[in-house]
Amino acid sequence: MMKFNISTFGCQMNEHDTEKIIWTLEKIGYQQTGYRDEADIIIFNTCAVRKTAEDRVFGQLGELQDLKRKNPNLIIAVCGCLMQKEEIRDYFLKKHRHIDIVFGTNNIHKLPQLIDRYLRTNEKVIDVIEDTKEISENIDSNRKYFYKAFVDIMYGCNNFCSYCIVPYTRGRERSRSVKSIINEVENLAQTGCKEITLLGQNVNSYGKTLDEKITFSQLLTILNNIEGIERIRFMTSHPKDFSDDLIDAYKSLDKLCNHLHLPVQSGSNRILKLMNRKYTKEEYLDKIYKIRECVPDIAITTDIIVGFPGETEEDFKETLDLVKKAKFDSAFTFLYSIREGTNAAKMTNQIPDEIKHERFQRLLDVLYPIGLESNQKLINTVQKILVEETSKSDENILSGRTESNKLVHFKGNNNIIGQIVDVEITDAKTFTLEGRLV
Ligand code: SAH
Ligand code: SF4
Ligand code: F3S
Repeated sequence: MMKFNISTFGCQMNEHDTEKIIWTLEKIGYQQTGYRDEADIIIFNTCAVRKTAEDRVFGQLGELQDLKRKNPNLIIAVCGCLMQKEEIRDYFLKKHRHIDIVFGTNNIHKLPQLIDRYLRTNEKVIDVIEDTKEISENIDSNRKYFYKAFVDIMYGCNNFCSYCIVPYTRGRERSRSVKSIINEVENLAQTGCKEITLLGQNVNSYGKTLDEKITFSQLLTILNNIEGIERIRFMTSHPKDFSDDLIDAYKSLDKLCNHLHLPVQSGSNRILKLMNRKYTKEEYLDKIYKIRECVPDIAITTDIIVGFPGETEEDFKETLDLVKKAKFDSAFTFLYSIREGTNAAKMTNQIPDEIKHERFQRLLDVLYPIGLESNQKLINTVQKILVEETSKSDENILSGRTESNKLVHFKGNNNIIGQIVDVEITDAKTFTLEGRLV
């Protein structure tokens, strides 16, 4: 029996693609292993969003050379976003000659065929579809958790933010049909799934490529009616398209979780324009104020890039000011990373690393106390927690998430994993809460 080992880099899209790869391989009788040294095939599902993500894959691929020397029959396959870019793909293949199979984000379903071709010919197999309008529906996922699941609703991105490589790795926007999404969610509900996270680079664009007339909030309304599903989340919404009908959805749909991830990237209007984000700091803040007014307990999180080309001290201070006004519950913060092929990579006024790092630290110094304060507000409240897993260090400690997506640790027996329980919050830290089962 063939054994495979898979490593995943990058975002939820990749995590979910990995679940599809696992399903595809288990369907042909392969067995997953957690150990690279006992695998017959090692797969890397890669991310291209920042240079650090690329370097990590590159380094770990280098380490596989030893394993391949010990076991010449070992098959090494690389897929994901890095392989969607011709220059990066060619560079990897040139530097790491032990790569046997390369496939892309659009042809996961073909993996068994590609392995078969490799085994028959013993020649490198490279099969990448750079852009496609097609969506392959005859693929399922072997999901990591039974109680929560990712559900793709759209693929690709048309926004071309000037720093971002994703439109070049994931192709143009295309939406899945309502029917196939409903089918998938109904099946999930039947197998005990309580929480779904709808995935897309820009979920507000849902439906634009479909013949049927449907918007993202209409899709949410339909999914809200599926019995068994208790929580609905989504990732990611773009501020330029974040509209009143989505605010109404938060008010009217009981299953839509009170959490919004709305990446702002910068607080400077000049930088936002150079980033091609199509909104201003003021417009962004207005949207935040409005949703907080309508949904007072909503948690708002964001993404921020520090050190975009040409970012001045004044620009950066605008970001700090926005953070103070928006009062984010938490944020993913990134040092700007040059991605070849994007417009920002051509800009000549790149920011020196020391300045990027110094600003990054100052940003965290503003973000953390705000996050802590918002967590402290939950002390002594009772929250509904979806119980997710036991702690790695102590099997009597469970972790789970509030509706607002905050991580909570509390004592309990692992037979309640997958259930939604009441937990009283007893303490708050910057990134986590502590509580006790009620
Ligand atoms: N589609 C999502 C995010 C995709 S990438 C959205 O638009 O919100 C996730 C995050 O990575 C982005 O929000 C951005 O903050 C960050 N990112 C993307 N390209 C980057 C780059 N070149 N350097 C640093 N951070 C980057
Ligand atoms: Fe990248 Fe912008 Fe598309 Fe998000 S919206 S994936 S940041 S181009
Ligand atoms: Fe995700 Fe990285 Fe690709 S963030 S879409 S895996 S480039």
